[in-house]
Amino acid sequence: MKIIRKSLLAFSLTGIVLSTSAFGYSQEERIKDMRAMENGVQQMQKGFLYNNLQDIQKGAELLKKHTAKIEPPVEGDDEFKRSYAYDLTRREAKKIIKLADDSVNDYKNHQPRQAMNNFTKILKQCMTCHARIRKW
Ligand code: HEC
Repeated sequence: MKIIRKSLLAFSLTGIVLSTSAFGYSQEERIKDMRAMENGVQQMQKGFLYNNLQDIQKGAELLKKHTAKIEPPVEGDDEFKRSYAYDLTRREAKKIIKLADDSVNDYKNHQPRQAMNNFTKILKQCMTCHARIRKW
């Protein structure tokens, strides 16, 4: 079972590599990932409001999975804009993934305020990116 899961993972990773490098990351994929990220955030919030660790964890996993995939929109061939957008995306995605982990761990460690604080920071990262590159 473990082996099967591993090879499935390898297969889907190959799929991701192919779909990003060979065929480009489309706007459709981005919107799909963004909506899944929004669902992840909402599920986390629900977990906080209902005091339900499982929802917080599930939401964080969904959020992380899709955050790891996002790429910025890069139309045109402005090299500076392009590398700025990729750097920003990598940086923000890394922060979001770490904050999601931190938030879950805080909650597990009975520090709900700290968990909520880190959760709020996730939303800040979303907005940072939206404000800077969404309109490009
Ligand atoms: C790398 C920068 C970046 C980050 C980080 C980011 N977004 Fe986005 N987001 C975008 C861009 C660009 C669009 C516009 C999508 C498009 O039209 O291609 C977008 C669009 C959206 C949309 C609208 C999708 C639709 O249906 O049109 C939602 C919802 C969204 N983002 C949620 C989030 C959430 C939640 C987070 C944080 C957890 C987040 N985003 C973080 C860049 C980002």
